[in-house]
Amino acid sequence: MKIKNICCIGAGYVGGPTMAVIAQKNPEIKVTVVDINKERIAAWNDENVENIPIYEPGLSAVVAEARGRNLFFSTEVDKAIDEAEMIFISVNTPTKTYGIGKGMAADLKWIELCARQIARVAKEDKIIVEKSTLPVRTAEALKSILDNTGNGVNFQILSNPEFLAEGTAIDDLHNPDRILIGGDSSSKAGKIATQALVDVYASWVSEEKILTTNVWSSELSKLTANAFLAQRVSSINAMSELCEHTGADVNEISRAIGMDSRIGPKFLKASVGFGGSCFQKDILNLVYIAKSFGLNEVADYWEQVIIMNDHQKRRFAENIVKTLFNTVSGKKIALLGWAFKKDTNDTRESAAIYVADYLLNERAEIVVYDPKVKAEQIYADLDYLGSRNPEENRNLLKVVEKPYTACKDAHAIAVLTEWDEFKAYDWENIYNCMLKPAFLFDGRNILDRKKLANLGFATNSIGLPAVQMSKEKKLTSLATAG
Ligand code: NAI
Repeated sequence: MKIKNICCIGAGYVGGPTMAVIAQKNPEIKVTVVDINKERIAAWNDENVENIPIYEPGLSAVVAEARGRNLFFSTEVDKAIDEAEMIFISVNTPTKTYGIGKGMAADLKWIELCARQIARVAKEDKIIVEKSTLPVRTAEALKSILDNTGNGVNFQILSNPEFLAEGTAIDDLHNPDRILIGGDSSSKAGKIATQALVDVYASWVSEEKILTTNVWSSELSKLTANAFLAQRVSSINAMSELCEHTGADVNEISRAIGMDSRIGPKFLKASVGFGGSCFQKDILNLVYIAKSFGLNEVADYWEQVIIMNDHQKRRFAENIVKTLFNTVSGKKIALLGWAFKKDTNDTRESAAIYVADYLLNERAEIVVYDPKVKAEQIYADLDYLGSRNPEENRNLLKVVEKPYTACKDAHAIAVLTEWDEFKAYDWENIYNCMLKPAFLFDGRNILDRKKLANLGFATNSIGLPAVQMSKEKKLTSLATAG
């Protein structure tokens, strides 16, 4: 079976880039990405391709190549469902904020709405592809909705989790480590559906990298991959705290253990804590699933990854207060970076949100600079926490367009995202325009500590002993501290 028409429901961080690459590599397939969010679709269709709603290196070029040729963005969901032989579901699956499983389980409301809409609209057989990250056995629930409310149409359900990382999405999609497709290999229709999806990817991915498994393994592999990745971050962060108490250097430890081929060097960078829309929600979901089977030890094991991450964010913020002589009340603190990682404008679950909230509770005056995140997003993130009213958030926290404006007259700077441009700043200039002592908290360990100390900064990094400013600078700083 050769697919000619694909629809993807959900034009977000996954649906947009994934479909752009599928369209780029399969010019003979018409790919329509639909969403109920009109502004988002309008931005995907913006004449100026630089205004598409998601920032990812290389994405605008791919969209420019395929958009209008065989890649379309639309709000006409029914029409796109009707026309497609294959429908990807790539909608959000956040943690439930109400009812049973609140704060733990994945909220499958949007998934179910999609299934019901497909069931209502479809007049011909369709292949449904789970692209969203879902709890294991969701395909079963989808099938029962589709089979019971449909129009006598046959649906094949495949699981095809997405492993791209934000910030490198286009590279990851062009050269994936593997593509995973879970399908029903016990039926002829299941085999045909699986092969149809294999063929879509085979346009640019070598066949040995395309794995086919049963549906449940595929669904659970995605949760497992995210749990393992997040676990590595929490593990090295746990060691970073021990380093700070013992004089060991966490960067040296990462290098030493990363050269062990059984461990490998990736995801061993100590930091202020992981963020992003996926790690926390997927682990909580895993914990919830384990608990629902009565597997309490399994649940506790994975929950500890989240507990450690929350601890890391909190202790970073606490350290700022302690170091600034136990009070930040009325002090200007510059936050460099708000995105959850570099090269993305995504801020979901970013450590910066929690650090800012903690410091605002301590009555700090915060100024934020991020090269890609807009002020309205920063305020929306803070308002969502509900710690104080929106007006107070806007009074106490300011967003600026230039890093030097953020740092001017600041008591301290905290680096919260590892944007490359931060390394290239004129730190001497920044030092000169700050209040003294000039404190710097590097939550990503990206800056040159020795250089900063020579300039006069008092630097705190993760998992390393604090570096005091040089003696000579200390004397002049105190003299000018006023
Ligand atoms: P997102 O929130 O950026 O995008 C989801 C989109 O779906 C939204 O624009 C929303 O308006 C739309 N939507 C929801 N219900 C709809 C409906 N009934 N009809 C039409 N549109 C609808 O979410 P994102 O980040 O793209 O994630 C989607 C899924 O992919 C999630 O399950 C996530 O766990 C998973 N995932 C995300 C990754 C990431 O890096 N963001 C990586 C791998 C998987």
